[in-house]
Amino acid sequence: MLTPAEQSEIQSEVAHYPYKRAVAIDALKIVQKHRGHVSDEAMDDVARFLELSREELEGVCTFYNLLLRKPVGKHVIWVCDGVSCYLTGYGRLCRKLESTLGIKPGETTKDGKFTLLPIVCLGACDHAPVLMVDDDLHRDLDPQRNPGAVEGVLKQYE
Ligand code: FES
Repeated sequence: MLTPAEQSEIQSEVAHYPYKRAVAIDALKIVQKHRGHVSDEAMDDVARFLELSREELEGVCTFYNLLLRKPVGKHVIWVCDGVSCYLTGYGRLCRKLESTLGIKPGETTKDGKFTLLPIVCLGACDHAPVLMVDDDLHRDLDPQRNPGAVEGVLKQYE
């Protein structure tokens, strides 16, 4: 069941549009902000609130790749595997993250601090390779050209 705070935030988005379904992605982002991820139960709750079927809601949101459907760590590291990043050090960056964190993409560190996930182009190809931690973009992270940069980024997060 959606909390009163979630309902109120979603309702204030609905007020800007003629149709409730227009806020489908925003509604799920609101739930994710409150709960850390969007569970199947939360999908059902949002669908009911927006008067959509679960299938319609899933369909609208299929292409929005920042929705987390499983529990994650305190911080999510989104590492870009788009073409520019792939050609400019994605492999080295990914290996550095994996060895520093002790996890593979899709996994969460034992202390629950970081989850490592792949993502398509983050729109900063001229500063590839890049990653995003939560909502913060970090650029020029090829360990070969910029040693110590990855450690510097990770240190910023408690
Ligand atoms: S391909 Fe990585 S930012 Fe564009």
